[in-house]
Amino acid sequence: MTDSWWKKSVVYQIYPRSFADADGDGMGDLRGIIDHLDHLAELGVDVLWLSPVYPSPQDDNGYDISDYQDIEPLFGTLEIFDELLAGAHARNMKIIMDLVVNHSSDEHPWFQESRSSKDNPKRDWYWWRPARPGMDSGTPGAEPTNWGSVFGGPAWEHDEKTGEYYLHLFSKKQPDLNWENPEVRQAVHAMMRWWLDRGVDGFRMDVINMISKDVSLPDGRLNAGSAYADGSAAFIGGPRLHEFLQEMHREVFAGRDGLLTVGEMPGVTVDEARLHTDPERGEVDMVFQFDHVWVDRGPDPWLLVPLQLTALKAILGRWQAGLADVGWNSLYWNNHDQPRVVSRFGDDSPAHRAASAKMLGTVLHLHRGTPYVYQGEELGMTNHPFGGIDEFRDIEALGQYRQAVELEGRTPEEVLRVLRARGRDNARTPMQWDDSPHGGFTTGTPWLPVNPNHTEINARAQRADPESVFHYYRRLIELRKTEPAVADGDFTMLLPHDERLYAFTRRLGATELLVIGNFSGVEARAEIDGWEGAELVLTNLERPAAGLTLQPWQAVVYRRAV
Ligand code: GLC
Repeated sequence: MTDSWWKKSVVYQIYPRSFADADGDGMGDLRGIIDHLDHLAELGVDVLWLSPVYPSPQDDNGYDISDYQDIEPLFGTLEIFDELLAGAHARNMKIIMDLVVNHSSDEHPWFQESRSSKDNPKRDWYWWRPARPGMDSGTPGAEPTNWGSVFGGPAWEHDEKTGEYYLHLFSKKQPDLNWENPEVRQAVHAMMRWWLDRGVDGFRMDVINMISKDVSLPDGRLNAGSAYADGSAAFIGGPRLHEFLQEMHREVFAGRDGLLTVGEMPGVTVDEARLHTDPERGEVDMVFQFDHVWVDRGPDPWLLVPLQLTALKAILGRWQAGLADVGWNSLYWNNHDQPRVVSRFGDDSPAHRAASAKMLGTVLHLHRGTPYVYQGEELGMTNHPFGGIDEFRDIEALGQYRQAVELEGRTPEEVLRVLRARGRDNARTPMQWDDSPHGGFTTGTPWLPVNPNHTEINARAQRADPESVFHYYRRLIELRKTEPAVADGDFTMLLPHDERLYAFTRRLGATELLVIGNFSGVEARAEIDGWEGAELVLTNLERPAAGLTLQPWQAVVYRRAV
Protein backbone atom coordinates (compact mmCIF):
# COMPACT_ATOMS: atom_id res chain seq x y z
CA MET A 1 0.00 0.00 0.00
CA THR A 2 1.10 3.50 -0.64
CA ASP A 3 1.52 6.18 1.92
CA SER A 4 -1.85 7.93 2.26
CA TRP A 5 -1.36 10.45 5.03
CA TRP A 6 -3.49 12.89 3.02
CA LYS A 7 -6.66 10.95 3.87
CA LYS A 8 -6.49 12.50 7.32
CA SER A 9 -5.47 15.93 6.05
CA VAL A 10 -7.13 19.19 5.15
CA VAL A 11 -5.71 21.35 2.37
CA TYR A 12 -5.91 25.15 2.36
CA GLN A 13 -5.66 27.03 -0.92
CA ILE A 14 -3.88 30.37 -1.06
CA TYR A 15 -4.40 32.71 -4.01
CA PRO A 16 -1.26 34.74 -3.42
CA ARG A 17 -2.35 37.92 -5.24
CA SER A 18 -5.27 38.27 -2.86
CA PHE A 19 -4.02 36.83 0.41
CA ALA A 20 -1.82 39.43 2.10
CA ASP A 21 0.32 42.29 0.80
CA ALA A 22 3.43 42.94 2.90
CA ASP A 23 5.07 45.60 0.70
CA GLY A 24 2.13 47.91 0.05
CA ASP A 25 1.95 47.61 -3.75
CA GLY A 26 -1.68 46.44 -3.62
CA MET A 27 -0.78 42.88 -4.62
CA GLY A 28 -0.40 39.99 -2.20
CA ASP A 29 3.07 38.43 -1.88
CA LEU A 30 5.07 35.62 -0.27
CA ARG A 31 6.10 37.77 2.69
CA GLY A 32 2.40 38.36 3.34
CA ILE A 33 1.83 34.62 3.48
CA ILE A 34 4.76 34.18 5.89
CA ASP A 35 3.24 36.87 8.13
CA HIS A 36 -0.01 34.90 8.36
CA LEU A 37 1.25 31.34 8.80
CA ASP A 38 0.05 31.35 12.39
CA HIS A 39 -3.54 31.98 11.25
CA LEU A 40 -3.28 28.81 9.14
CA ALA A 41 -1.58 26.79 11.86
CA GLU A 42 -4.29 27.82 14.34
CA LEU A 43 -6.97 26.72 11.88
CA GLY A 44 -5.26 23.34 11.87
CA VAL A 45 -4.79 22.72 8.14
CA ASP A 46 -2.09 20.29 7.04
CA VAL A 47 -1.23 21.35 3.52
CA LEU A 48 -1.08 24.71 1.75
CA TRP A 49 -1.68 24.79 -2.00
CA LEU A 50 -0.25 27.93 -3.57
CA SER A 51 -1.83 29.16 -6.78
CA PRO A 52 0.98 30.04 -9.24
CA VAL A 53 3.81 32.20 -7.90
CA TYR A 54 6.13 31.90 -10.93
CA PRO A 55 7.21 34.72 -13.24
CA SER A 56 4.22 35.56 -15.41
CA PRO A 57 2.81 38.38 -17.52
CA GLN A 58 -0.32 37.88 -15.33
CA ASP A 59 -2.68 37.64 -18.28
CA ASP A 60 -4.59 34.95 -16.33
CA ASN A 61 -3.24 35.95 -12.89
CA GLY A 62 -0.22 33.67 -13.04
CA TYR A 63 -1.79 30.69 -14.85
CA ASP A 64 0.35 31.91 -17.78
CA ILE A 65 3.91 31.08 -16.77
CA SER A 66 6.99 32.52 -18.47
CA ASP A 67 9.58 30.76 -16.26
CA TYR A 68 8.78 27.56 -14.37
CA GLN A 69 11.83 27.74 -12.10
CA ASP A 70 11.71 31.12 -10.43
CA ILE A 71 9.39 33.39 -8.43
CA GLU A 72 7.36 36.28 -9.85
CA PRO A 73 9.08 39.50 -8.68
CA LEU A 74 5.69 40.94 -7.63
CA PHE A 75 5.52 38.05 -5.13
CA GLY A 76 9.13 37.81 -3.97
CA THR A 77 12.23 35.75 -4.65
CA LEU A 78 13.35 32.14 -4.39
CA GLU A 79 15.02 32.99 -1.08
CA ILE A 80 11.72 34.24 0.35
CA PHE A 81 10.03 31.16 -1.06
CA ASP A 82 12.52 28.97 0.83
CA GLU A 83 11.74 30.94 3.98
CA LEU A 84 8.01 30.36 3.45
CA LEU A 85 8.57 26.64 2.93
CA ALA A 86 10.68 26.42 6.10
CA GLY A 87 8.07 28.41 8.05
CA ALA A 88 5.30 26.11 6.92
CA HIS A 89 7.32 22.96 7.62
CA ALA A 90 8.23 24.26 11.08
CA ARG A 91 4.48 24.42 11.79
CA ASN A 92 3.89 20.92 10.39
CA MET A 93 2.26 22.20 7.23
CA LYS A 94 3.27 21.02 3.78
CA ILE A 95 3.25 23.13 0.62
CA ILE A 96 2.09 21.97 -2.78
CA MET A 97 2.65 24.02 -5.90
CA ASP A 98 0.35 24.72 -8.83
CA LEU A 99 1.65 22.91 -11.89
CA VAL A 100 0.43 24.64 -15.06
CA VAL A 101 1.78 22.62 -17.95
CA ASN A 102 -1.12 22.20 -20.34
CA HIS A 103 0.09 25.56 -21.60
CA SER A 104 2.82 28.09 -20.91
CA SER A 105 2.83 31.83 -21.39
CA ASP A 106 3.46 33.08 -24.93
CA GLU A 107 6.35 34.96 -23.28
CA HIS A 108 8.05 31.74 -22.16
CA PRO A 109 11.38 31.29 -24.01
CA TRP A 110 10.11 27.90 -25.24
CA PHE A 111 7.28 29.59 -27.11
CA GLN A 112 9.43 32.49 -28.25
CA GLU A 113 11.70 29.96 -29.93
CA SER A 114 8.81 27.91 -31.21
CA ARG A 115 7.19 30.83 -32.95
CA SER A 116 10.45 32.12 -34.46
CA SER A 117 10.43 29.83 -37.51
CA LYS A 118 8.87 26.66 -38.89
CA ASP A 119 12.13 24.77 -38.56
CA ASN A 120 13.10 25.88 -35.07
CA PRO A 121 13.86 22.78 -32.93
CA LYS A 122 11.09 23.84 -30.52
CA ARG A 123 8.49 24.39 -33.27
CA ASP A 124 6.85 21.08 -32.37
CA TRP A 125 6.69 21.91 -28.64
CA TYR A 126 3.37 23.67 -29.34
CA TRP A 127 0.42 22.97 -31.65
CA TRP A 128 1.08 24.77 -34.92
CA ARG A 129 -1.24 24.20 -37.88
CA PRO A 130 -1.82 25.84 -41.28
CA ALA A 131 -5.14 27.44 -42.19
CA ARG A 132 -8.11 25.25 -43.07
CA PRO A 133 -7.57 23.70 -46.54
CA GLY A 134 -8.67 26.06 -49.30
CA MET A 135 -8.77 29.13 -47.06
CA ASP A 136 -6.40 32.04 -46.72
CA SER A 137 -4.45 32.20 -43.51
CA GLY A 138 -5.70 34.96 -41.25
CA THR A 139 -9.15 35.33 -42.85
CA PRO A 140 -12.33 34.82 -40.79
CA GLY A 141 -13.19 31.14 -40.37
CA ALA A 142 -9.79 29.92 -41.64
CA GLU A 143 -8.79 28.60 -38.19
CA PRO A 144 -7.65 24.96 -38.31
CA THR A 145 -10.69 23.87 -36.23
CA ASN A 146 -13.94 25.54 -35.20
CA TRP A 147 -13.16 25.35 -31.46
CA GLY A 148 -13.85 28.20 -29.10
CA SER A 149 -11.44 29.07 -26.30
CA VAL A 150 -12.59 28.90 -22.68
CA PHE A 151 -12.10 32.65 -22.34
CA GLY A 152 -14.11 33.60 -25.45
CA GLY A 153 -13.11 33.89 -29.09
CA PRO A 154 -11.46 31.18 -31.19
CA ALA A 155 -8.99 28.64 -29.76
CA TRP A 156 -6.47 29.42 -32.50
CA GLU A 157 -4.32 32.51 -32.98
CA HIS A 158 -2.91 33.44 -36.35
CA ASP A 159 0.79 34.26 -36.18
CA GLU A 160 2.07 36.69 -38.84
CA LYS A 161 5.64 35.51 -38.63
CA THR A 162 5.09 32.09 -40.22
CA GLY A 163 1.50 32.41 -41.38
CA GLU A 164 0.41 29.46 -39.21
CA TYR A 165 -1.93 29.22 -36.23
CA TYR A 166 -1.17 28.04 -32.70
CA LEU A 167 -3.66 26.38 -30.37
CA HIS A 168 -4.68 28.05 -27.11
CA LEU A 169 -7.55 26.42 -25.23
CA PHE A 170 -7.44 29.39 -22.83
CA SER A 171 -6.21 32.91 -23.66
CA LYS A 172 -4.05 33.63 -26.68
CA LYS A 173 -1.26 34.33 -24.21
CA GLN A 174 -1.53 30.69 -23.03
CA PRO A 175 -0.38 28.52 -25.98
CA ASP A 176 -0.94 24.76 -25.43
CA LEU A 177 2.18 22.66 -25.03
CA ASN A 178 2.43 19.61 -27.28
CA TRP A 179 2.72 16.62 -24.96
CA GLU A 180 3.12 14.30 -27.95
CA ASN A 181 6.70 15.55 -28.10
CA PRO A 182 8.87 13.58 -25.64
CA GLU A 183 11.22 16.55 -25.12
CA VAL A 184 8.31 18.56 -23.71
CA ARG A 185 7.50 15.82 -21.24
CA GLN A 186 11.13 15.46 -20.20
CA ALA A 187 11.48 19.21 -19.63
CA VAL A 188 8.35 19.21 -17.46
CA HIS A 189 9.55 16.22 -15.44
CA ALA A 190 12.95 17.81 -14.84
CA MET A 191 11.28 21.02 -13.65
CA MET A 192 9.03 19.09 -11.26
CA ARG A 193 11.99 17.20 -9.78
CA TRP A 194 13.77 20.53 -9.26
CA TRP A 195 10.88 21.79 -7.08
CA LEU A 196 10.67 18.53 -5.13
CA ASP A 197 14.43 18.65 -4.52
CA ARG A 198 13.89 22.14 -3.17
CA GLY A 199 11.52 20.66 -0.59
CA VAL A 200 7.99 21.18 -1.90
CA ASP A 201 5.50 18.46 -1.07
CA GLY A 202 3.60 17.88 -4.28
CA PHE A 203 1.52 19.49 -6.97
CA ARG A 204 -1.99 20.57 -7.86
CA MET A 205 -2.08 19.97 -11.61
CA ASP A 206 -3.94 22.57 -13.63
CA VAL A 207 -6.39 21.21 -16.26
CA ILE A 208 -4.22 18.12 -16.41
CA ASN A 209 -6.87 16.08 -18.23
CA MET A 210 -6.41 18.31 -21.29
CA ILE A 211 -2.74 17.49 -21.99
CA SER A 212 -3.48 14.65 -24.40
CA LYS A 213 -5.25 15.72 -27.58
CA ASP A 214 -6.72 13.72 -30.44
CA VAL A 215 -3.94 14.54 -32.91
CA SER A 216 -6.37 14.60 -35.83
CA LEU A 217 -7.87 17.74 -34.21
CA PRO A 218 -11.46 17.17 -35.37
CA ASP A 219 -14.03 19.96 -35.51
CA GLY A 220 -16.34 20.16 -32.51
CA ARG A 221 -20.09 20.37 -32.08
CA LEU A 222 -21.63 23.78 -32.58
CA ASN A 223 -24.35 24.55 -30.03
CA ALA A 224 -27.28 26.73 -31.07
CA GLY A 225 -26.58 30.40 -30.41
CA SER A 226 -22.84 30.09 -29.83
CA ALA A 227 -20.20 31.60 -32.08
CA TYR A 228 -17.66 28.77 -31.67
CA ALA A 229 -17.82 25.02 -31.23
CA ASP A 230 -17.12 22.91 -28.17
CA GLY A 231 -14.02 20.92 -29.07
CA SER A 232 -13.67 19.22 -25.72
CA ALA A 233 -14.31 15.69 -27.04
CA ALA A 234 -10.88 15.97 -28.67
CA PHE A 235 -8.95 17.05 -25.59
CA ILE A 236 -10.74 16.11 -22.34
CA GLY A 237 -9.36 12.76 -21.17
CA GLY A 238 -7.53 12.33 -24.48
CA PRO A 239 -6.08 9.06 -25.83
CA ARG A 240 -2.69 9.20 -24.05
CA LEU A 241 -3.69 10.85 -20.75
CA HIS A 242 -3.24 7.77 -18.56
CA GLU A 243 0.05 7.00 -20.26
CA PHE A 244 1.35 10.54 -19.70
CA LEU A 245 0.34 10.54 -16.03
CA GLN A 246 1.91 7.14 -15.42
CA GLU A 247 5.11 8.24 -17.09
CA MET A 248 5.16 11.39 -14.95
CA HIS A 249 4.64 9.29 -11.86
CA ARG A 250 7.57 7.02 -12.74
CA GLU A 251 9.86 9.87 -13.74
CA VAL A 252 9.03 12.29 -10.94
CA PHE A 253 7.31 10.72 -7.94
CA ALA A 254 8.53 7.14 -7.72
CA GLY A 255 10.68 6.55 -4.65
CA ARG A 256 9.69 9.81 -2.95
CA ASP A 257 7.43 9.74 0.12
CA GLY A 258 5.11 12.18 1.81
CA LEU A 259 3.88 13.86 -1.38
CA LEU A 260 0.38 14.87 -2.48
CA THR A 261 -0.75 15.05 -6.11
CA VAL A 262 -4.18 16.27 -7.20
CA GLY A 263 -5.22 16.65 -10.80
CA GLU A 264 -7.73 19.31 -11.81
CA MET A 265 -9.99 17.53 -14.32
CA PRO A 266 -13.02 19.40 -15.66
CA GLY A 267 -15.45 16.91 -17.21
CA VAL A 268 -13.81 13.80 -15.72
CA THR A 269 -16.19 10.87 -15.17
CA VAL A 270 -16.34 8.64 -12.09
CA ASP A 271 -15.04 5.68 -14.10
CA GLU A 272 -12.06 7.65 -15.37
CA ALA A 273 -11.36 9.02 -11.89
CA ARG A 274 -11.25 5.47 -10.50
CA LEU A 275 -8.46 4.72 -12.93
CA HIS A 276 -6.63 7.99 -12.24
CA THR A 277 -6.68 7.54 -8.47
CA ASP A 278 -6.16 3.79 -8.12
CA PRO A 279 -2.83 3.70 -6.25
CA GLU A 280 -1.86 0.51 -8.05
CA ARG A 281 -1.81 2.38 -11.37
CA GLY A 282 0.52 5.17 -10.23
CA GLU A 283 -1.15 8.31 -11.64
CA VAL A 284 -2.39 10.88 -9.07
CA ASP A 285 -3.66 10.68 -5.48
CA MET A 286 -6.97 12.42 -6.19
CA VAL A 287 -8.71 14.56 -8.79
CA PHE A 288 -10.88 17.66 -8.72
CA GLN A 289 -14.11 16.71 -10.50
CA PHE A 290 -16.58 19.42 -11.55
CA ASP A 291 -20.01 17.75 -11.60
CA HIS A 292 -21.18 19.26 -8.31
CA VAL A 293 -20.10 22.82 -9.18
CA TRP A 294 -21.92 22.50 -12.50
CA VAL A 295 -25.16 21.50 -10.72
CA ASP A 296 -26.63 24.99 -11.06
CA ARG A 297 -25.73 25.36 -14.72
CA GLY A 298 -28.21 24.55 -17.48
CA PRO A 299 -27.72 24.13 -21.22
CA ASP A 300 -27.93 27.92 -21.62
CA PRO A 301 -24.76 29.34 -20.03
CA TRP A 302 -26.44 32.71 -19.46
CA LEU A 303 -29.35 31.49 -17.38
CA LEU A 304 -29.10 31.05 -13.62
CA VAL A 305 -30.48 27.72 -12.48
CA PRO A 306 -31.43 27.55 -8.80
CA LEU A 307 -29.84 24.80 -6.73
CA GLN A 308 -31.83 21.59 -6.58
CA LEU A 309 -30.58 19.82 -3.47
CA THR A 310 -31.62 16.36 -4.69
CA ALA A 311 -29.44 16.84 -7.78
CA LEU A 312 -26.46 17.89 -5.66
CA LYS A 313 -26.91 14.82 -3.44
CA ALA A 314 -27.22 12.55 -6.46
CA ILE A 315 -23.94 13.87 -7.87
CA LEU A 316 -21.88 13.75 -4.70
CA GLY A 317 -23.47 10.43 -3.73
CA ARG A 318 -22.41 8.97 -7.09
CA TRP A 319 -18.81 10.15 -6.52
CA GLN A 320 -18.82 8.72 -3.00
CA ALA A 321 -20.07 5.34 -4.19
CA GLY A 322 -17.84 5.29 -7.26
CA LEU A 323 -14.63 5.83 -5.33
CA ALA A 324 -15.59 3.84 -2.23
CA ASP A 325 -13.43 0.77 -2.84
CA VAL A 326 -10.77 2.14 -5.19
CA GLY A 327 -9.27 5.62 -5.37
CA TRP A 328 -10.08 8.69 -3.33
CA ASN A 329 -12.20 11.86 -3.53
CA SER A 330 -11.19 15.47 -3.13
CA LEU A 331 -13.92 17.59 -1.51
CA TYR A 332 -14.40 21.24 -2.33
CA TRP A 333 -17.02 23.97 -2.59
CA ASN A 334 -14.67 26.82 -3.32
CA ASN A 335 -11.50 27.72 -5.14
CA HIS A 336 -10.22 30.70 -7.11
CA ASP A 337 -12.53 29.83 -10.04
CA GLN A 338 -15.79 29.43 -8.11
CA PRO A 339 -18.13 31.95 -6.52
CA ARG A 340 -18.28 31.98 -2.71
CA VAL A 341 -20.29 28.99 -1.52
CA VAL A 342 -22.19 30.81 1.23
CA SER A 343 -23.63 33.12 -1.44
CA ARG A 344 -24.19 30.27 -3.88
CA PHE A 345 -25.65 27.37 -1.87
CA GLY A 346 -26.20 29.07 1.50
CA ASP A 347 -27.77 32.36 2.59
CA ASP A 348 -25.37 35.30 2.85
CA SER A 349 -27.84 37.65 4.54
CA PRO A 350 -26.75 38.76 8.02
CA ALA A 351 -29.33 36.55 9.73
CA HIS A 352 -28.11 33.26 8.22
CA ARG A 353 -24.62 33.83 6.81
CA ALA A 354 -22.60 32.36 9.65
CA ALA A 355 -24.97 29.41 10.23
CA SER A 356 -25.16 28.50 6.56
CA ALA A 357 -21.38 28.80 6.11
CA LYS A 358 -20.86 26.42 9.03
CA MET A 359 -23.53 24.03 7.75
CA LEU A 360 -21.90 23.89 4.30
CA GLY A 361 -18.51 23.25 5.86
CA THR A 362 -19.91 20.43 8.00
CA VAL A 363 -21.59 18.62 5.13
CA LEU A 364 -18.50 18.88 2.92
CA HIS A 365 -15.88 17.90 5.49
CA LEU A 366 -17.85 14.90 6.71
CA HIS A 367 -17.94 13.25 3.29
CA ARG A 368 -15.28 10.64 2.64
CA GLY A 369 -12.33 12.37 0.96
CA THR A 370 -9.79 15.12 1.48
CA PRO A 371 -11.39 18.55 2.07
CA TYR A 372 -10.01 21.74 0.54
CA VAL A 373 -10.62 25.12 2.18
CA TYR A 374 -10.20 28.18 -0.02
CA GLN A 375 -8.89 31.35 1.62
CA GLY A 376 -11.68 33.26 3.35
CA GLU A 377 -14.04 30.26 3.33
CA GLU A 378 -13.06 29.77 6.98
CA LEU A 379 -14.53 33.23 7.63
CA GLY A 380 -17.68 32.69 5.59
CA MET A 381 -16.60 35.32 3.06
CA THR A 382 -19.29 36.19 0.53
CA ASN A 383 -19.58 37.19 -3.13
CA HIS A 384 -18.72 40.79 -3.95
CA PRO A 385 -21.42 43.33 -4.94
CA PHE A 386 -20.12 43.81 -8.50
CA GLY A 387 -21.82 46.46 -10.62
CA GLY A 388 -20.97 46.88 -14.32
CA ILE A 389 -18.50 44.96 -16.47
CA ASP A 390 -15.82 47.62 -15.82
CA GLU A 391 -15.63 46.36 -12.22
CA PHE A 392 -14.52 42.87 -13.28
CA ARG A 393 -10.83 42.04 -13.82
CA ASP A 394 -10.94 38.35 -14.69
CA ILE A 395 -9.94 37.52 -18.26
CA GLU A 396 -12.66 34.84 -18.38
CA ALA A 397 -15.44 37.24 -17.36
CA LEU A 398 -14.26 39.92 -19.79
CA GLY A 399 -13.73 37.52 -22.70
CA GLN A 400 -17.01 35.68 -22.26
CA TYR A 401 -18.89 38.96 -21.86
CA ARG A 402 -17.43 40.26 -25.12
CA GLN A 403 -18.29 37.08 -27.02
CA ALA A 404 -21.83 36.90 -25.60
CA VAL A 405 -22.71 40.55 -26.06
CA GLU A 406 -20.85 41.35 -29.28
CA LEU A 407 -21.12 38.09 -31.22
CA GLU A 408 -24.05 36.20 -29.76
CA GLY A 409 -26.60 38.96 -29.26
CA ARG A 410 -27.01 38.65 -25.49
CA THR A 411 -28.00 41.71 -23.50
CA PRO A 412 -25.40 43.11 -21.10
CA GLU A 413 -27.89 42.70 -18.24
CA GLU A 414 -28.47 38.97 -18.72
CA VAL A 415 -24.74 38.34 -18.95
CA LEU A 416 -23.94 40.52 -15.93
CA ARG A 417 -26.53 38.75 -13.80
CA VAL A 418 -24.67 35.50 -14.30
CA LEU A 419 -21.20 37.03 -13.88
CA ARG A 420 -22.24 38.65 -10.59
CA ALA A 421 -23.44 35.29 -9.30
CA ARG A 422 -20.76 33.06 -10.79
CA GLY A 423 -17.81 35.19 -11.91
CA ARG A 424 -14.37 34.13 -10.69
CA ASP A 425 -13.59 37.59 -9.30
CA ASN A 426 -15.97 36.80 -6.43
CA ALA A 427 -13.32 34.45 -5.07
CA ARG A 428 -10.49 36.84 -5.79
CA THR A 429 -11.37 39.92 -3.76
CA PRO A 430 -8.74 40.32 -1.04
CA MET A 431 -8.69 38.30 2.14
CA GLN A 432 -10.46 40.14 4.96
CA TRP A 433 -8.03 40.32 7.86
CA ASP A 434 -9.53 43.18 9.91
CA ASP A 435 -11.96 46.10 9.75
CA SER A 436 -9.44 48.74 8.61
CA PRO A 437 -9.96 50.53 5.25
CA HIS A 438 -8.59 47.80 2.96
CA GLY A 439 -9.40 44.99 5.37
CA GLY A 440 -5.78 44.72 6.53
CA PHE A 441 -4.90 43.25 3.14
CA THR A 442 -2.75 46.18 2.00
CA THR A 443 -1.67 49.66 3.02
CA GLY A 444 -1.75 50.61 -0.68
CA THR A 445 -4.53 50.37 -3.25
CA PRO A 446 -5.69 46.77 -3.65
CA TRP A 447 -5.62 45.40 -7.21
CA LEU A 448 -9.27 44.37 -6.73
CA PRO A 449 -11.44 46.13 -4.14
CA VAL A 450 -11.98 44.58 -0.73
CA ASN A 451 -15.57 43.53 -0.08
CA PRO A 452 -17.28 46.35 1.88
CA ASN A 453 -18.54 43.77 4.38
CA HIS A 454 -14.99 43.36 5.77
CA THR A 455 -16.05 45.68 8.60
CA GLU A 456 -18.28 42.81 9.80
CA ILE A 457 -16.59 39.75 8.33
CA ASN A 458 -12.88 39.58 9.11
CA ALA A 459 -10.28 37.30 10.64
CA ARG A 460 -9.44 39.47 13.63
CA ALA A 461 -13.04 39.63 14.85
CA GLN A 462 -13.58 35.94 14.24
CA ARG A 463 -10.45 34.79 16.02
CA ALA A 464 -11.69 36.63 19.09
CA ASP A 465 -15.15 35.09 18.93
CA PRO A 466 -15.44 31.41 19.92
CA GLU A 467 -18.77 31.15 18.08
CA SER A 468 -17.36 32.40 14.76
CA VAL A 469 -17.16 30.54 11.46
CA PHE A 470 -13.37 30.45 11.94
CA HIS A 471 -13.55 28.60 15.25
CA TYR A 472 -16.21 26.29 13.88
CA TYR A 473 -13.95 25.35 10.96
CA ARG A 474 -11.15 24.81 13.45
CA ARG A 475 -13.32 22.33 15.39
CA LEU A 476 -14.43 20.66 12.16
CA ILE A 477 -10.81 20.16 11.10
CA GLU A 478 -9.95 18.89 14.56
CA LEU A 479 -12.77 16.33 14.40
CA ARG A 480 -10.99 14.67 11.44
CA LYS A 481 -7.95 14.18 13.69
CA THR A 482 -9.83 12.83 16.70
CA GLU A 483 -12.61 10.72 15.14
CA PRO A 484 -11.22 8.07 12.76
CA ALA A 485 -14.64 7.51 11.14
CA VAL A 486 -14.34 10.97 9.51
CA ALA A 487 -11.36 9.98 7.39
CA ASP A 488 -11.88 6.25 7.06
CA GLY A 489 -15.55 5.45 7.57
CA ASP A 490 -17.86 4.10 4.86
CA PHE A 491 -20.38 6.56 3.44
CA THR A 492 -24.14 5.96 3.09
CA MET A 493 -26.47 8.62 1.69
CA LEU A 494 -29.88 8.99 3.37
CA LEU A 495 -33.05 10.86 2.35
CA PRO A 496 -32.09 11.19 -1.35
CA HIS A 497 -35.49 12.71 -2.21
CA ASP A 498 -35.54 15.41 0.45
CA GLU A 499 -35.17 18.91 -1.03
CA ARG A 500 -34.13 20.51 2.27
CA LEU A 501 -32.06 18.06 4.25
CA TYR A 502 -28.70 16.60 3.26
CA ALA A 503 -28.20 13.51 5.42
CA PHE A 504 -25.73 10.64 5.49
CA THR A 505 -23.93 8.24 7.79
CA ARG A 506 -20.26 7.33 8.14
CA ARG A 507 -19.35 4.01 9.67
CA LEU A 508 -16.07 2.61 10.88
CA GLY A 509 -16.09 -0.61 12.90
CA ALA A 510 -18.40 -0.09 15.87
CA THR A 511 -18.70 3.67 15.40
CA GLU A 512 -21.35 5.37 13.31
CA LEU A 513 -21.76 9.08 12.63
CA LEU A 514 -24.96 10.71 11.43
CA VAL A 515 -24.56 14.02 9.58
CA ILE A 516 -27.52 16.23 8.65
CA GLY A 517 -27.47 19.68 7.10
CA ASN A 518 -30.55 21.83 6.58
CA PHE A 519 -30.12 23.59 3.22
CA SER A 520 -33.13 25.81 3.81
CA GLY A 521 -34.40 28.77 5.77
CA VAL A 522 -37.22 26.78 7.35
CA GLU A 523 -37.29 24.26 10.15
CA ALA A 524 -37.16 20.71 8.81
CA ARG A 525 -37.55 17.31 10.41
CA ALA A 526 -35.44 14.30 9.47
CA GLU A 527 -37.28 10.98 9.61
CA ILE A 528 -34.37 8.79 10.62
CA ASP A 529 -34.79 6.15 13.32
CA GLY A 530 -32.50 4.84 15.96
CA TRP A 531 -30.59 7.95 16.95
CA GLU A 532 -32.44 8.74 20.20
CA GLY A 533 -29.88 9.29 22.90
CA ALA A 534 -26.93 9.44 20.51
CA GLU A 535 -24.05 11.74 21.41
CA LEU A 536 -24.12 15.17 19.71
CA VAL A 537 -20.56 15.69 18.48
CA LEU A 538 -20.95 18.97 16.64
CA THR A 539 -23.65 21.48 15.77
CA ASN A 540 -23.64 25.06 14.52
CA LEU A 541 -26.74 26.14 16.48
CA GLU A 542 -28.42 24.96 19.62
CA ARG A 543 -29.17 21.31 20.19
CA PRO A 544 -32.04 20.29 17.88
CA ALA A 545 -35.39 19.34 19.32
CA ALA A 546 -36.16 15.66 19.82
CA GLY A 547 -36.87 13.74 16.64
CA LEU A 548 -34.11 15.44 14.66
CA THR A 549 -35.91 18.66 13.88
CA LEU A 550 -33.35 21.07 12.47
CA GLN A 551 -33.57 24.83 12.59
CA PRO A 552 -32.95 26.86 9.42
CA TRP A 553 -29.40 26.15 8.12
CA GLN A 554 -28.62 23.92 11.05
CA ALA A 555 -26.03 21.14 10.85
CA VAL A 556 -25.64 18.27 13.31
CA VAL A 557 -23.17 15.44 13.70
CA TYR A 558 -24.21 12.59 16.02
CA ARG A 559 -22.20 9.56 17.09
CA ARG A 560 -23.39 6.17 18.29
CA ALA A 561 -21.93 2.75 18.90
CA VAL A 562 -23.32 -0.03 16.70
C1 GLC B 1 -7.59 26.17 -14.39
C2 GLC B 1 -7.35 27.22 -13.36
C3 GLC B 1 -7.89 28.51 -13.86
C4 GLC B 1 -7.13 28.88 -15.12
C5 GLC B 1 -7.19 27.77 -16.15
C6 GLC B 1 -6.15 27.96 -17.20
O1 GLC B 1 -8.92 25.90 -14.59
O2 GLC B 1 -7.89 26.84 -12.14
O3 GLC B 1 -7.80 29.55 -12.93
O4 GLC B 1 -7.69 30.05 -15.67
O5 GLC B 1 -6.94 26.51 -15.59
O6 GLC B 1 -4.87 27.79 -16.67
